[in-house]
Amino acid sequence: MSKSFEKYIPFVPLKMEHRSWPDKQITKAPIWCSVDLRDGNQALVDPMNLQEKLEYFHTLLDIGIKEIEIGFPSASETEFEICRELIEGGHIPDDVTIQVLVQARPHLIQRTFEAIRGAKHVILHFYNSTSTLQRKVVFHMDMPGITKIATDAAKLIYELSQSVIAEGMDLRYEYSPESFMGTEMDYAVEICQAVLEELHATPEKRVILNLPTTVENCMPNYFADELEYFISKLPSRDCAIISLHPHNDRGCGVATAEMGLLAGAERIEATLFGNGERTGNVDIVTLALNMHTQGVDPELDFSHINRIKEMYERCTKMKVGERQPYAGELVFTAFSGSHQDAINKGTQYMRDSGSGKWEIPYLPIDPADVGREYEPIIRINSQSGKGGAAFVMQHSFGFDLPKAMHPEFGHIVQVETDRVGTELKPERIYELFRENYIDAVKPYELVRHSFAEFTDEEGHSHVTFAGTLRHADTTFQVQGSGNGPIDAFFNAIHGQKMDHFTFVDYKEHAIKQGSDSQAVAYIHLRDENGADWFGVGMSHNINLAPLKGILSAINRAALHRD
Ligand code: KIV
Ligand code: ZN
Repeated sequence: MSKSFEKYIPFVPLKMEHRSWPDKQITKAPIWCSVDLRDGNQALVDPMNLQEKLEYFHTLLDIGIKEIEIGFPSASETEFEICRELIEGGHIPDDVTIQVLVQARPHLIQRTFEAIRGAKHVILHFYNSTSTLQRKVVFHMDMPGITKIATDAAKLIYELSQSVIAEGMDLRYEYSPESFMGTEMDYAVEICQAVLEELHATPEKRVILNLPTTVENCMPNYFADELEYFISKLPSRDCAIISLHPHNDRGCGVATAEMGLLAGAERIEATLFGNGERTGNVDIVTLALNMHTQGVDPELDFSHINRIKEMYERCTKMKVGERQPYAGELVFTAFSGSHQDAINKGTQYMRDSGSGKWEIPYLPIDPADVGREYEPIIRINSQSGKGGAAFVMQHSFGFDLPKAMHPEFGHIVQVETDRVGTELKPERIYELFRENYIDAVKPYELVRHSFAEFTDEEGHSHVTFAGTLRHADTTFQVQGSGNGPIDAFFNAIHGQKMDHFTFVDYKEHAIKQGSDSQAVAYIHLRDENGADWFGVGMSHNINLAPLKGILSAINRAALHRD
């Protein structure tokens, strides 16, 4: 057995005597910052071109994101040009702040100031790596050396910004101690405090301290402990906006962000659908909609998630997985019978309760809230139960099958799913319904018929049925009276070979298919052995639909016997 796990150095959690974050709740949206156009774009096989970036940028605006990191303008000519186009092309609304990233290196900082000329609101985001590992294996520097990189950069940025601020730019600062999660917390406090002082941060002009899990290396609760500790020790806490930038290496980016908010973070940097280096950045869609489902306004608009997904896939050439929370193709779909049943019951419960509260099992969010109400929630395969096929008949075709009929039709559908081994599309389910019920017009056929009806002095109605039936090559006449068409027909067939059924129940409703409106009747009969037989009849004539339904049930029983 391989012992390859032994080479790993486990994360050492901070010793916390008292932590307060587990008792907190998320009650309001954080400040959102999109890093799609930088961190996300940096991680693409083919980075976005100008047109794609512009389209993406406008989608972020439509979602309502007010802080958008547009790139790393000092990194390449392309990045620089995109920054200029956004500014000069008038793409940035007055209430939106663009953010630009730069390493804590003088020549790159100078170039970045050239890139942002003319912009109204800017966050200048600089960073250097602070973790124990990076100091040891990449920079070969001690803590003072690393601090000096940060403070020298802060000093230069402060100096260069005075003239652009004087010219009217609303320029703010952001500092990221990259790989914060692997940094000794007391040192993280020290370097961030030094940067705050160099940037002259005040409670009125707060500096964003962005604390990334550059590589997610610990459980989210350990990260929340670190964060609570960091915040409690930071001398100039009131001069800082605490921001998070979670990555997702352990698959816990969302949990890290949520626990981080509990631990005092006020701002989140994230990307649509979690795009970004390696396993990506934290997914802003999931974070926001998680809040939405807890009754907290995320202050972002994801009411047309499919449109956003389409733009995202086209521009990034990435795919949103079928199981991606809220956006994946299958996340509102139930195949399992018990889930389908519970969804049906929840839908019914909500209709009856009228409380307006969302109480549907297996659906944590109303698909309508993300514009997905027209997608099939219930899909049918061999895992599906009796209610699923009836649900499809109702929602896709308007047939409201009586409850008693669900098991029988469910069984017909299940035999077919077992036979084909794949999902059955609604059209195939309808076909099975038609073949089994509506098309059951033999061996007994109604050739012609007439009804006579009158109402007596007491208001009782009397109906007489007279008709010609055919069985194989034989035609025969029947006649009978009753208090309604069904009763009259039943009496008419009395004494024939087909009379060994008792009438159990009947349901009829109108159905519109295209511009054509018809009556559909569901008939429930029981034979002399106690077996139940259902039949379905459709006709433009509401008296004829149940007769066809009765014959459908009788024919199905006859076919079964044969
Ligand atoms: O993940 C990271 O640490 C970053 C920084 C540049 C903020 O992207
Ligand atoms: Zn990052």
